Amino acid sequence: MPLVTSTEMFKKAYEGKYAIGAFNVNNMEIIQGITEAAKEEGAPLILQVSAGARKYAKHTYLMKLVEAAVEDTGLPICLHLDHGGAGLDRDAAFNEIKSCVDGGFTSVMIDGSHYSLKENIELTKRCVDYAHGKGVVVEAELGKLSGIEDAVNVSEEDAQFTNPAEVEEFVGRTGVDSLAIAIGTSHGAFKFKPGQKPRLRFDILEAIQGLLPGFPIVLHGASSVVQEYVDMINENGGRIPDAIGIPEEMLRKAASMAVCKINIDSDLRLAMTASIRKYFTDHPDHFDPRVYLAPARTALKGLVKHKLVSVLGASGKA
Ligand code: G3H
Ligand code: 13P
Ligand code: ZN
Repeated sequence: MPLVTSTEMFKKAYEGKYAIGAFNVNNMEIIQGITEAAKEEGAPLILQVSAGARKYAKHTYLMKLVEAAVEDTGLPICLHLDHGGAGLDRDAAFNEIKSCVDGGFTSVMIDGSHYSLKENIELTKRCVDYAHGKGVVVEAELGKLSGIEDAVNVSEEDAQFTNPAEVEEFVGRTGVDSLAIAIGTSHGAFKFKPGQKPRLRFDILEAIQGLLPGFPIVLHGASSVVQEYVDMINENGGRIPDAIGIPEEMLRKAASMAVCKINIDSDLRLAMTASIRKYFTDHPDHFDPRVYLAPARTALKGLVKHKLVSVLGASGKA
């Protein structure tokens, strides 16, 4: 089976009230851990690659590794560019999208969320026109994902969230295939302050769902920051106090609504790091990368299985 787009996956996920896991990949062990988990669970999968991942591993290595995973698992896998164009000027952003479309990705995100609505629409439409011409689907973003703890007051906090009044125009004018929205999630392992009650704006998600029935919504910054791994890191020489993520029941609720794609990166990093740190505590004399990367890959696989079964509800849906 060749790489697929997310179109069919999202349609089934929307109707079935579950979500597809979109996991960030950077190397072979990460790709193997995720895809082995998905194979055992019979789950559809999105593997996503950031600009940083392309810089670290090179486009062609990631492409070949993902193709190997498709061959090995026989699963429907969508290969997606995560946060395309972020931090770039608009021509450079378009060129990054073009390079991934031409380079075999089946899905790309154009992240124009830092631009004005008008500029975001123009940039997104330019990318959509190019990608659709080559059979590639496009995700875009409206709203800003900086953590809600960064907001100084309520009106600033509200300004970061996606404005439901803008979504119909944005989707209609760009022709985009899915939309990432800001409802209180944020990237990384420190999403809420200690003592702060985690809160997502489900009212905004509900309003958007009402305006765009059947349209797939994407949730970035959706790691739950599994406490077991945070503790293991801190007990084995690490120092990440106060790492807090999105409670799993909130992710389950989002998946039962219009959210069809849930992005997870930080949890993968935490699982691998916890395993490697513990390994070196227990075996200070070992130095063969295979012997500490194998359990790290197994830890990551266990984490992904848990996500597919207990959080996303995607097990058995391939
Ligand atoms: O949203 C960002 C992802 O976690 C990718 O992170 O840019 O460090 O690869 P990265
Ligand atoms: P986390 O940092 O919560 O894993 O989010 C990852 C993400 O949104 C990638 O685009
Ligand atoms: Zn993201």
